Amino acid sequence: MRKTRVMPNHLDKTSRRSLLRFLLASPLLFTPRPVAAFERLLAAAGENEPTAQEAREIIKAATEAIDVFDFEFVAERNLSPAHYTYLSMGVQHEVTLRANRTAFDDFQLRPRRLVGSIRDLDTSTQILGTKMSSPIILAPASSQKAFHPEGELAVARAAKRKDHLQIFSTGSSTPIEEVVAARGAPIWFQLYTADIPTFTRMQLREAEEAGCPAVVLTVDVTATIFDQNRDRIRRFRREDNAECQTCHQSSMVQDAIDAAHAVGFDLERRLDNLMILDWDNVDRIRDATPMKLLLKGILTREDARLCVEHGVDGIVVSNHGGRAEDSGLSAIEALPEIVEEVGGRIPILIDSGFRRGTDFFKALALGADAVCIGRPYLWGLASFGQEGVEAVLDILRSELEIVMKGLGTPNLASITPAYVRRKCSACGQSG
Ligand SMILES: Cc1cc2nc3c(=O)[nH]c(=O)nc-3n(C[C@H](O)[C@H](O)[C@H](O)COP(=O)(O)O)c2cc1C
Repeated sequence: MRKTRVMPNHLDKTSRRSLLRFLLASPLLFTPRPVAAFERLLAAAGENEPTAQEAREIIKAATEAIDVFDFEFVAERNLSPAHYTYLSMGVQHEVTLRANRTAFDDFQLRPRRLVGSIRDLDTSTQILGTKMSSPIILAPASSQKAFHPEGELAVARAAKRKDHLQIFSTGSSTPIEEVVAARGAPIWFQLYTADIPTFTRMQLREAEEAGCPAVVLTVDVTATIFDQNRDRIRRFRREDNAECQTCHQSSMVQDAIDAAHAVGFDLERRLDNLMILDWDNVDRIRDATPMKLLLKGILTREDARLCVEHGVDGIVVSNHGGRAEDSGLSAIEALPEIVEEVGGRIPILIDSGFRRGTDFFKALALGADAVCIGRPYLWGLASFGQEGVEAVLDILRSELEIVMKGLGTPNLASITPAYVRRKCSACGQSG
């Protein structure tokens, strides 16, 4: 018999809701699951009508998946509470995390009819010299061995099989050269750094030597919020400590700490400044490397303008999947003003909350050049390793192709703002 994850059938909606409220309130019965997971349960218990997503069955093979959410449930079942929390959590009240999904409802597609059949659909593109067969990119995510023993290598092999760009995180649990070898093509490098020039240069050299053509500097995680996240994970980690000892180690950061120790410098202590950066740091990084420089975590037209003024080569519109700050501002809502400000001068990527072909299409229509995904491929990884990541990429790619065919857009250039409109969330009017 297949296992489903909804509440028992013999409980009516009111009693299920009361039971869940009791569980939420009870410190004795507290289990380390993030707010979002409880809210899904509450929704399934009848706060809202159960959606297809709430009532779905747990799949047993990657080939059984119908959409990417199928993998979320397998990941939740496979992972320890600490690791699932690390994967799924947002910060604080998770308002931003939720907004990343709900905001898509405010953007509607404007389908055209009688567009004929498209035989040669082309989703390829080229960004900053990197050719891609799809605008769907694997976002940087640290500690992937927390989700599967093969971690970043399984992701690299899937990216190679399906030909997607992979962005390697500073916090990866596998050395960069091994990931590049497994991917068999250049990957981009995501940089978390500190205001310590020698440390930053060391990191950049490592990525350059590994052949990365671009560096994505993440600018949205401040030390304060990072500490809060870390404390939350640590609390859960105490419960499955053995598992977490090694999988959360970043080989790159650890190597740098060890190298600094060897020359009598306590880098670890100074890493407290991790990620507290300003535009001078951006200028220094831009001047210190031949790699193309993108800033990840930009959400306003003001910062987009500064990116262009400071000679940054590209922007990733992102709120870190709701893991940076609880602003409530979704990435898709931030996109239009950034596209307007940049005016096509540098490429714009986006991530945070993308789960469906229609989500990708909306962002491309609003002016994004490519879209990164985070949790969906990590769900795939946690569920079935490389095969799971491949299946997630297949599903998302095929969902995007279905929308493109349905709306009559044979290639990415033909996806224009004419295909999307925005509903005013206050008045319900579209425009
Ligand atoms: C488990 C996890 C680890 C992450 N690690 C990093 C990281 O090391 N560097 C970074 O820039 N972003 C990191 N991110 C953020 C992703 O790059 C991306 O912005 C986010 O996941 C996109 O939102 P989504 O998960 O809703 O698709 C991480 C996200 C998750 C879920």
